Amino acid sequence: MNKLKIAILLSRVRVEEKLLMQAFTDRQVDFELIDDREIVFDLHQKGNWQQYNVVVERCINHSRALYALRILNDWGIPTINSYQVAAICGDKLQTTSALIRDGVPSPGCKVAFTSEEALKAIEEMGYPVVLKPAVGSWGRLLSKINDREAAESILEHKEVLGSYHHSIFYIQEYIHKPARDIRSFVVGGETIAAIYRYSDHWITNTARGGKAQNCPITPEIDKISMDASKAVGGGVVAIDLLETEDGRLLVNEVNYTMEFRNSIDTTGVNIPDKVVDYVLKVTQGK
Ligand SMILES: Nc1ncnc2c1ncn2[C@@H]1O[C@H](COP(=O)(O)OP(=O)(O)O)[C@@H](O)[C@H]1O
Ligand SMILES: [Mg+2]
Repeated sequence: MNKLKIAILLSRVRVEEKLLMQAFTDRQVDFELIDDREIVFDLHQKGNWQQYNVVVERCINHSRALYALRILNDWGIPTINSYQVAAICGDKLQTTSALIRDGVPSPGCKVAFTSEEALKAIEEMGYPVVLKPAVGSWGRLLSKINDREAAESILEHKEVLGSYHHSIFYIQEYIHKPARDIRSFVVGGETIAAIYRYSDHWITNTARGGKAQNCPITPEIDKISMDASKAVGGGVVAIDLLETEDGRLLVNEVNYTMEFRNSIDTTGVNIPDKVVDYVLKVTQGK
């Protein structure tokens, strides 16, 4: 048995976690599961945590993930992903800002802090626009706004009914993409696989019924995916790419606790095994 000790920090054992556990077992790497519902961190004591060479974070709840990673990284315990990657990718506004800083192409984007200014920004951008909560996933609470009346109504709903998260208005240009987007997987700086997600709906997430098909990694997909991964700090990430009508690629968002269950058979790439390769690489030198 390998002497390494890995922890998988999770909320529930989903298909992805099962696949990762199997991949670790196949490689004879010792791991422990830690349920985030059962944790109490004593911030002054690393306690049992110091035995781990690396903690693989697979929490469903973004806040739990963020705080756990912050504590572990401050203790000097390596995590996949790092706190920095989770903080940037978990927030679409921070992701977009990092992409633009590094010159990675992404859709037009405006940010406003009040509904009045949001409406002005939307009118200036021109319809349709997409309004998204900065923190969120699985295609939830996204609005494609086609005209001023819809804009006024959605902004009012957000103001009156929305939680704290809806007080920041993240407004994106709508990209007239084909009936699909592209999801690429970047592990340790390498684009290992990509899928098309086809849907008749403008929201193509597989969690919303999008159908996965293999997407060959062209040099363009490879480059923009690697650049996007680098902009957010590397690690294990999945990139959403949109194809424009004139054939360019734009990075829509970057995900840090990626799902990959639909992409292994589709691409023929053993994604969990690639993740384990990377985890082992990170532990080298420890
Ligand atoms: N600006 C946009 N233009 C066109 N389609 C979009 C745009 N933003 C999102 N989508 C579609 O909606 C899906 C979900 O949006 P995304 O920003 O990735 O949110 P989530 O974090 O919920 O996955 C994307 O995969 C894409 O199909
Ligand atoms: Mg997405």
